[in-house]
Amino acid sequence: MSVLLTGGAGFIGSHTAVVLIESGYDVVVLDNFSNSKPSVIGRIEQITGKPCPCEEADLSDGPLVDAVFRRHDFDAVVHFAGFKAVGESVEKPREYYENNLIGTLRLIEAMTRRGVKRMIFSSSATVYRADNPVPYYEDFPLGATNPYGWTKVMIERILCDVCAADPGWGAALLRYFNPIGAHPSGRIGEDPNGIPNNLLPYVSKVAGGELPLLHIFGDDYDTPDGTGVRDYIHVMDLARGHLLALGYMRDRRGAFPFNLGTGKGYSVREVVAAFEKVCGRALPVRVDPRRPGDLPSVYANADRARKELGFTARLGLDEMCADAWRWQKRREEADGATAE
Ligand code: UD1
Repeated sequence: MSVLLTGGAGFIGSHTAVVLIESGYDVVVLDNFSNSKPSVIGRIEQITGKPCPCEEADLSDGPLVDAVFRRHDFDAVVHFAGFKAVGESVEKPREYYENNLIGTLRLIEAMTRRGVKRMIFSSSATVYRADNPVPYYEDFPLGATNPYGWTKVMIERILCDVCAADPGWGAALLRYFNPIGAHPSGRIGEDPNGIPNNLLPYVSKVAGGELPLLHIFGDDYDTPDGTGVRDYIHVMDLARGHLLALGYMRDRRGAFPFNLGTGKGYSVREVVAAFEKVCGRALPVRVDPRRPGDLPSVYANADRARKELGFTARLGLDEMCADAWRWQKRREEADGATAE
């Protein structure tokens, strides 16, 4: 079975590429490397010992995307490509709508022309309206508080409508909670440009000495220790979720939303404590005011993915932190090697 991974050189895409290749899929990565590095492809090949063909292309370039579809005979597409920084999306809404929506529409056009009617879409827990109670269930009302989140809501809507219009179409809408960790080899992991916005990459850089201290955004939430609670999921578990979703969608038509989380929430302080355990030292932190737009507590009800996909997260917070820390150290070594 041949699968195209748009954005396959990114954080979740690269881990999914490894899992799919190791499960016998023929994977082709399509990426414009706007937020990833071409060297990731070589690392996927090192880990799997198999080739990972890569097409450098931007989804907005219809003719180029069409040409990729003519060169290969895909059975399905896993669609990761998209801008994903919440704060940036508020500053540059037009760019976010254009890149994420137009890119997806071009991709659907190219798929339709070649009769490819299976998509696994990289959605987010951010599609749940902020006033929903936790845990989140898939049938809760959708909404967003920023343009990035709205692009996810809108793309889910587009895919539901495409599936309704063509009974041959099938799409899995995978709503990720907070993916962290890295491949246990330490060869691939999260590599954000500039200063990270998300907790784990920030904590890793504090542990690695690249940043002086972690700012905890508020400790006066109505949570057990006052800091924000999230459903962190190991990126290798998440990658396996895509493998299961591809199998699930093989004989199904229609649009199917799934939460991919562990169903368990950890606070910022619990994450910091787990990371301190693996890196072997206390991390400097300072409590700052709440970050605008943050919710006290977000976690999944993970029943549907368990019952329908057979998906349960296997790796806990300690493994997530240990793998993130291994990746941080290996990356430092690699950076040092390049600098010499
Ligand atoms: C964020 C995005 C979400 C996106 C997800 C990707 C926002 C409002 N939401 O989710 O749309 O899908 O990333 O993983 O940006 N924290 C600190 N200090 C830091 C960074 C974070 O205390 O330097 C806290 C936050 O307040 C929060 C928790 O850590 O309680 C997790 O934050 P983060 O990793 O940014 O993820 P989310 O905000 O859940």
